[in-house]
Amino acid sequence: ALATVALASCAPAATWVQPDGTPVKDAERRRGGTGKVTTATLAAAPLVLDLAGKTAATWAFGSTPAPVIRLGAGDTLQATVRNQLDTDTSVHWHGIALRNDMDGVPPVTQEPVGAGAAFDYEFIVPDPGTYWFHPHVGVQLDRGLYGALIVEDPNEPLAYDDEWVIILDDWLDGVTATPDQVLEELSAGMGDMGGMDDMFMRMGNTLMGATSDLLGGDAGDVYYPLYLINGKPVDDPTQFTGKPGDRVRLRIINAGSDTAFRLAVGGHGLTITHSDGFPVTPVEVDSILIGMGERYDATITLGDGAFPLIAQAEGKRARGFAVIRTAAAATAPAADVSIPELSSSRVGTAQLLAADSRAALSSRQPDRSIAIALTGGMADYDWGIDGRRFDMTQPLDAAHEIREGERVRLTITNDTEMWHPFHLHGHTYQHQDDGPRKDTSIILPKQTLTVDFDADNPGLWIAHCHNIYHAETGMTTVIGYR
Ligand code: C2O
Ligand code: CU
Repeated sequence: ALATVALASCAPAATWVQPDGTPVKDAERRRGGTGKVTTATLAAAPLVLDLAGKTAATWAFGSTPAPVIRLGAGDTLQATVRNQLDTDTSVHWHGIALRNDMDGVPPVTQEPVGAGAAFDYEFIVPDPGTYWFHPHVGVQLDRGLYGALIVEDPNEPLAYDDEWVIILDDWLDGVTATPDQVLEELSAGMGDMGGMDDMFMRMGNTLMGATSDLLGGDAGDVYYPLYLINGKPVDDPTQFTGKPGDRVRLRIINAGSDTAFRLAVGGHGLTITHSDGFPVTPVEVDSILIGMGERYDATITLGDGAFPLIAQAEGKRARGFAVIRTAAAATAPAADVSIPELSSSRVGTAQLLAADSRAALSSRQPDRSIAIALTGGMADYDWGIDGRRFDMTQPLDAAHEIREGERVRLTITNDTEMWHPFHLHGHTYQHQDDGPRKDTSIILPKQTLTVDFDADNPGLWIAHCHNIYHAETGMTTVIGYR
């Protein structure tokens, strides 16, 4: 039934009607909200960036990253997206439990926003937290089209003096390679190593054989010329300034397409407070591993001096770098400085626990279980789910149908030799054994992740690997309900 109804109206989202005849808008009305409206305009357009003397032709919402969008929980975001590119685009609001027709996923939730056209997104943001936005068309995510979306908690229990948004990215320079060229090369598979070699030589990097003690096997499949923190490369690092003794909340977002980062601050521990927007029981770590699409909030208490903030590209022997300075005269750390915090093993989600009733689901048993397998491999670049490549033209083939009100248990097994960051739209799930609430989770090779979520947000939701090259070549599926 899902298949017949839903795409009967692969029609403009605003007119998407649920099978019982209720417009999707009714789900939004039930959500309630403060009535307070924040507006934003995002113009997707070509931009030439100067990255420490290297010129990169890319696409961005005015700057990379885009200016932060900030509003309160329960408020409404009205965002007009103007497409000044010569190709289709859209904007997806990663992690937000929003009305389905505003999720930004052509052709599942809306028609693409054509070249020269505009689209008005309007939705309530129900849950406070650290989120972000990016296009959901092709591999556009790997351009500079992204920004942070911060939903503030009117009853914030966490005390801090300052807040820094930290966005990590792996960066193709747009000269030696664009995301679309990389996708084409990868999709051609290893059978065509010739072309592939050539491209990665031009990028000044080698391709295969990266291993990671945290991620196992191949840590990633594309090497990038540059790694950015808040749009800035190692040679022109972002400077954060503060006062010694200040407690700073870091909102860390991995906007990269193909890189997990191990993040640490020299001379400082991190207190992890939130995973993907939801509170966890605070845990002290030296470093945190953050996969593509994931967010962590952490607090640090600033020391006196100048300190390196390092985002090590896991398994790739490259890094993003920024400087934290609390004393004007202190000597800046070198970009290649080694810090003991990076080699800590205290990283990842395993030791995180949901903090409170907002983050923890009730102990109710699941009404339905869905098991899926991540499949495929580098050799043929045949990434898929349950051995099947997602077909954008028939997105509801092999969709998983659930019912509103159910507690759903999702078991995701990684049958491949490589790790994948799995992401579910429109919901956050909870890891088993009182684990963290998340919407994006790293799954190591040959491991299984079990999570529960409540089907309380009707619509057609995609779930996919957040390695955008894997998602685009087929590691995507749909979970839908009315
Ligand atoms: Cu960052 Cu399908 O999303
Ligand atoms: Cu993947």
